[in-house]
Amino acid sequence: MANPNPPARIGVVTVSDRASAGVYEDRGGPAIAAFLQKTITSPYELLARVIPDERPLVESTLKELADTQGCCLVVTTGGTGPARRDITPEATLAVCDREMPGFGEQMRAVSLKSVPTAILSRQVAGLRGSCLIINLPGKPSAIEECLLAVFAAVPYCIDLMDGPRIETNPAIVNAFRPKKA
Ligand code: MTE
Repeated sequence: MANPNPPARIGVVTVSDRASAGVYEDRGGPAIAAFLQKTITSPYELLARVIPDERPLVESTLKELADTQGCCLVVTTGGTGPARRDITPEATLAVCDREMPGFGEQMRAVSLKSVPTAILSRQVAGLRGSCLIINLPGKPSAIEECLLAVFAAVPYCIDLMDGPRIETNPAIVNAFRPKKA
């Protein structure tokens, strides 16, 4: 018999020419994984990918994680800035049916309190079917700051798409679920 409560599937995508070529070690993907590990207390499994800043590949990877792998959440890191090869936001919006503008707004607003160059990130979020896709900047130090800024709303967003119930450690993130009227 199928498990009635299968673990949530969460994709972690590092978008970086150099990390994918092995020029340097991927630190962004592991930083996302570490944040999720200390924050999420319900069962989940991670699917990690490290790919270059090639728009067709970013799009196909996001589609694969959302559609084929059934991820309810995909978090990307890297490729959100103004450099010529930064295309992660465009690839994300191209595969999403609806944008979730509040995520980018909030992550930039919080990040701007610590670093003026936070304004250079074009990070977005959106929904592809019942999968929430969130962009983060490539700097490992930005990852915890950005996820802490928005994660309280992530479990309820996934609830609203009939996804798996995500529980969090309230000492790190207090998942907010409005009381039913
Ligand atoms: N956000 C936070 N919280 N901390 C940072 O150090 N760096 C910024 C910005 N957002 C940063 C940040 C910088 S310098 C750039 S260029 C953009 O994210 C884009 O980074 P990316 O192209 O690696 O995604």
